Amino acid sequence: MELGLKGKTALVTGASSGLGAAAAMALAQEGVELYINSRTEERLEATAVKILEKTGIRAKLLIGDVSKGADIQHFDTEVGQVDILVSNAGGPPPGQFTDLSGEQWQQASDLVLISAINLTRMVIDGMIKRKWGRLIYLTSIGVLQPIDDLILSNTYRAGVTGFCKTVANNYSRYGITANCVCPGYTATERLAQLAASRAEETGTSVEKVIEAFASVVPAGRIGKPEELAALVAFLASERAAYITGTSIPVDGGAVRSLI
Ligand SMILES: NC(=O)c1ccc[n+]([C@@H]2O[C@H](COP(=O)([O-])OP(=O)(O)OC[C@H]3O[C@@H](n4cnc5c(N)ncnc54)[C@H](OP(=O)(O)O)[C@@H]3O)[C@@H](O)[C@H]2O)c1
Repeated sequence: MELGLKGKTALVTGASSGLGAAAAMALAQEGVELYINSRTEERLEATAVKILEKTGIRAKLLIGDVSKGADIQHFDTEVGQVDILVSNAGGPPPGQFTDLSGEQWQQASDLVLISAINLTRMVIDGMIKRKWGRLIYLTSIGVLQPIDDLILSNTYRAGVTGFCKTVANNYSRYGITANCVCPGYTATERLAQLAASRAEETGTSVEKVIEAFASVVPAGRIGKPEELAALVAFLASERAAYITGTSIPVDGGAVRSLI
């Protein structure tokens, strides 16, 4: 299928590994020029090299922490036109409400919710002017079915979902779509960290925790980052022009609700 993405430019944050790296690769495979971001230059450069070798696209690097408004202001001085935003970063720590400090709530808000708002603020005026844009927010299946030990993630990703829906309501008339993609259990560093934390809590092995995650998924396995990235590339495309204001899980059927 021709996605009509050649000549577009994307900014993908949290792109040195996992879902962000896979999304950047999928877009580059469609001929999209890239800005990629993460906090660690070596890891980001390694991802850029992989993208270049596979696709011939040389991504421009934006080193910085998306939870810091000042870093995003600095990106604004470095980027040109951005047609596609993929807003993503690492997830906040697991924990029960009574174990979490006010500072952890503030950090999680800055990382998950405020980063998405600041990144959108950075790109939306140009999209309105050009009458074309794609805003894609990576959230979680936790917005469809909250996950017991991820109260920080559940709370602020619900906020991102409300933000995305409102942006879609207000700006889709300008040719801009805004959608959330909700990963289920997907094989990345983040999943390995969550499994290690769950294993320590319950006195079992990491392998057993991963098996338990997979056992509740109708597809019977953990997802691959490129399976989620394929949806990101489609939502970014011309073909997806009438899909806006929605949250789409990529979870092997893990969420059991009807819609
Ligand atoms: N994998 C899953 O099963 C799953 C399920 C549901 C939701 N999610 C959510 O989807 C998102 C991506 O997950 P993932 O599994 O790809 O995570 P990951 O493997 O931990 O990768 C996170 C990426 O974000 C970068 N990053 C972290 N904090 C950042 C910050 N403050 N500013 C800029 N970049 C930052 C990391 O690179 P540096 O360290 O170089 O900065 C890395 O490239 C996370 O929010 C996660 O919670 C994942």
